[in-house]
Amino acid sequence: MACVPTMMPGMQHNLRVPGPTPLPDDVREAQAQPMIDHRGAEFGRMLPEITDGIAELIGTSDEVLLLTSSGTGAMEAAIVNTLSPEDRVLAVTIGAFGDRFAEIATTYGANVERLEVEWGEAADPAVLRDHLAGHEPYAAVLLTHNETSTGVVNPLRELVAEVRQAPAQPLVIVDGISGLGAIPFEMDAWGVDLVVSASQKAWMGSPGIAIAAVGERARRAGERAGMPRFYFDFGQARRWAEKGQTPWTPAVSVLFGLQVGVRRLLAEGREQTWRRHAALAAAVGAGLEAVGLELVAPAGHRSATVTAAWVPDGIEWVPLNRTLRERGLALAGGQGKWAGRILRFGHMGDVRLSELTDALRTLGEVLPDFDQRADPDAAVAAATAAYEELSSTAAAAAR
Ligand SMILES: Cc1ncc(COP(=O)(O)O)c(C=O)c1O
Repeated sequence: MACVPTMMPGMQHNLRVPGPTPLPDDVREAQAQPMIDHRGAEFGRMLPEITDGIAELIGTSDEVLLLTSSGTGAMEAAIVNTLSPEDRVLAVTIGAFGDRFAEIATTYGANVERLEVEWGEAADPAVLRDHLAGHEPYAAVLLTHNETSTGVVNPLRELVAEVRQAPAQPLVIVDGISGLGAIPFEMDAWGVDLVVSASQKAWMGSPGIAIAAVGERARRAGERAGMPRFYFDFGQARRWAEKGQTPWTPAVSVLFGLQVGVRRLLAEGREQTWRRHAALAAAVGAGLEAVGLELVAPAGHRSATVTAAWVPDGIEWVPLNRTLRERGLALAGGQGKWAGRILRFGHMGDVRLSELTDALRTLGEVLPDFDQRADPDAAVAAATAAYEELSSTAAAAAR
């Protein structure tokens, strides 16, 4: 596998991968605090503050549990705490992370059927409705909120509504890892039973803490769930959370940072955070198109947290990526079958327009070395105009 060069020492680093995201200064300072006892009173105040804040931000009055792992750990926890081997599960997959969810359920012995959607497209609620009507009942349906591997956001609310209308009432389990905290999401109002996320995405924390919000139906399913579990047992997490603790030693420093990230999001307000991310995404989309790249996702299904574009014919991603990194810009490449074919540009969390326009300028300056005509000034102008247009429309709507 080709090695991606690191940044030049001392060079300003524009981290534009779709998580981990750049850390605000106050998050970094919080993470540098002296260590505390994870069974002490201070920790006992911090844990519920974070979980209550997350619950408010994702629209639930049910429980939020924090696990020390990356997001994939919470995906695994969601499966093993609600299902039994042989349970029929429908995995609606629109990309690499949807496939991962299906694989986890398969690994634990669920009887998984996949409703596969062409990569680059969103799942269609009508197709899901027909599929549910034409098949034996499922115990659970797995959905992805925001497919980071393709830059596509699903019409989650409508998809969830289809599942909740199915006579068998399967559980709705959502991978919200790269969407929560940035893209509209209402757990209780939409009828989501369980959703997972991770600290290094829009929450502005470092990697290391996974989030699982567990609704009443998922909790009851857990009482019957027969899949093996130990470290990720929600029953243990729940019992210890009642005492303001976690069952195992948590990533305390990451939690210090996450606490600040959650406070920042609460202070900004959910709707404003969602609008801000939509405006940032519009800026990136317009800028990438202005340097001659074609976006992967169709209009209307473009993610507010990550934008994917095709690497133009005749350009190899590895040398392009190497040059961008030498210039201080870290983008992400494609995953799985799209490795080398797309580039992904992250814009979630604490992001300033100037960081995005700097990145677009770098791209516009580098592409001509790869025989792709590009005008960096035009990219910056297009991004700024798109951002301002959406920001002013949002401001007008808010008045
Ligand atoms: C949608 C989605 N699901 C799952 C994951 C996996 O999360 P982690 O890498 O934290 O395990 C990611 C990470 O990028 C993601 O974006």
